[in-house]
Amino acid sequence: MFFGMKIFIFVPNENKYINMCGIVGYIGKRQAWPVLVEGLRKLEYRGYDSAGVALVSAPGDMKVYKSVGKVADLERVVAGKDTSASTGIAHTRWATHGEPSTVNSHPHTSMDGRLALVHNGIIENYAILKQKLADKGYVFSSSTDTEVLVQLIDYIQTEGSLDLLTAVQLALKEVIGAYAIAVVDRDNPDVIIAARKSSPLVVGIGDDEYFLASDATPMVEYTNKVIYLSDGEIAVLRSGEQVRIVNLDNVECSHEAQTIAMNIGQLQKGGYPHFMIKEIFDQPECIADCMRGRLNADTCSVVLSAVNEHRERFVSASRFVIVACGTSWHAGLIGKQLIETMCRIPVEVEYASEFRYRNPVISPSDVVIAISQSGETADTLAAIELAHSRGAFVYGICNVVGSSIARATDAGSYIHVGPEIGVASTKAFTGQVAVLLMFALSLAKETGTISSEEYTSTVASLDAIPDKMRQVLKQNDYIAGMSRMFTYARNFIYLGRGYSFPIALEGALKLKEISYIHAEGYPAAEMKHGPIALIDADMPVVVIATRSPLYDKVLSNVQEIKARGGRVVAVVTEGDTVISSLADFSIQVPAVPECLDALVTSIPLQLMAYHIAVCRGLDVDRPRNLAKSVTVE
Ligand code: AGP
Ligand code: GLU
Repeated sequence: MFFGMKIFIFVPNENKYINMCGIVGYIGKRQAWPVLVEGLRKLEYRGYDSAGVALVSAPGDMKVYKSVGKVADLERVVAGKDTSASTGIAHTRWATHGEPSTVNSHPHTSMDGRLALVHNGIIENYAILKQKLADKGYVFSSSTDTEVLVQLIDYIQTEGSLDLLTAVQLALKEVIGAYAIAVVDRDNPDVIIAARKSSPLVVGIGDDEYFLASDATPMVEYTNKVIYLSDGEIAVLRSGEQVRIVNLDNVECSHEAQTIAMNIGQLQKGGYPHFMIKEIFDQPECIADCMRGRLNADTCSVVLSAVNEHRERFVSASRFVIVACGTSWHAGLIGKQLIETMCRIPVEVEYASEFRYRNPVISPSDVVIAISQSGETADTLAAIELAHSRGAFVYGICNVVGSSIARATDAGSYIHVGPEIGVASTKAFTGQVAVLLMFALSLAKETGTISSEEYTSTVASLDAIPDKMRQVLKQNDYIAGMSRMFTYARNFIYLGRGYSFPIALEGALKLKEISYIHAEGYPAAEMKHGPIALIDADMPVVVIATRSPLYDKVLSNVQEIKARGGRVVAVVTEGDTVISSLADFSIQVPAVPECLDALVTSIPLQLMAYHIAVCRGLDVDRPRNLAKSVTVE
């Protein structure tokens, strides 16, 4: 696998929620294993690639079981083995550092096997810490960032003959990154230490027993009293004793236990009725995660490690050829405009399925960019193979760590938006666009084709994009109400120009996929070359008409549609009065530089597709005939 792991050199923004996988813990009088495995199953909806458990039954007796794949695979590994213990921690992993494998699965243990730790999130300065520990003689068996943390705690505790809590506090002070962790000590089955920063963790309070989990789902059947840990807090759980919550400086933090009223179904989707809407709403945090450690607002710079590591290859590329399918192909169309505009290097965008069969002209001076959420799409993989056979260098942009495409490419960047479960891709699309933006900005800096003012202002605007996305999401109720009017529509046209043309295609694809309404996306100016014949009162037209140099041209298109009795839904820039007054419905998005438009304009179209499908009573998360990962031709 050639995807560079991120090495971080600055403190990221606080309070960003890392959307990753699951932790479960139990300490009390019950058998821990059934509680833990059932808890992991309840967290399965979060998506994961491997699972594991550590059980401490008596001083000196700790068992760790791990498996790649599903919780059911872990159960198969554990079957017939000794699981008796009343203290344990368990984990489902969504790999960020190191491919999914048994050895990379959590819990990770200290070198002497004494401490076991589970972790959700990313230790950004793991490389520096790892080196320091290696210099002290620590040997690592996995390629995760997490193993570094457990070894660090062990080192601090052993060196200073400290208690576990103090060692955890000191270690976390050295850590830059995001984490929810739980630690157990083989020699002390009476305690679990848990801590959080930017990654959720909940303590459930039972009768002389405690539960721990990434959200309340695993504990609702045992207790409705919970404490949601805040950033920087550590919980010390001992059965039969009051839970202690302290900060890294050992100052007590006061917490009233809350009573939870949600049912399990609601909790599993984070309170949302479908994964798709949850994932749409997760986007501001996902994009913040995607930029974490790459975009530094203080120095106004973007560092994409792939560009650093393969600078010469990218700078000297005679041409980029983007290969992808579906939504990822739409992201590629935006990538073309970004790279050509900022880096002045020609870019072609190809459907991977066409590219692989048409004997394309590819030379060793070309760089092929493969974009794929799943990293498993058969056509994209075949396109990579073909590109390699012609000597091209292949750069991948994937979400799933350790996926086939991540392994098949020569360099790559993960989009780090967490598992996408809804079949209709939403957060992966904006994640892909965000990575392409960072790629174009980093490369343009190297090629010297961007002015420092433009670079700085674009980086600053990109840093502010999660808040702009939040503003768009506030219009969900308006969009839901408007969508009701289109429940029985049979066709839709989506129009846009420039950066908005791929958004028109993506909006149409979203609608088709989940509402089964026929929808077509066109560059707005193409309308008069044919599609205008379709316009009448039964043909709703969605127009992306944000402020851009082409605004007046799009205005003319809107007038043409209205003149033919068409109904217009316009996505406009806040404060717009001209197109808004012509349109039947207008959705305002905050003003952003044109090159960032896709990150805000795609959201109302995702919401619209979602609400129309819900109004039609369709299964939004499992649309007919579609698979999340298309591993066949
Ligand atoms: C998107 O909503 C689709 N379900 C689909 O078009 C998808 O983008 C396409 O199959 C490519 O998948 P990939 O990104 O995992 O390669
Ligand atoms: N960064 C850790 C790893 O790659 C934890 C990932 C997670 O949140 O599951 O193992």
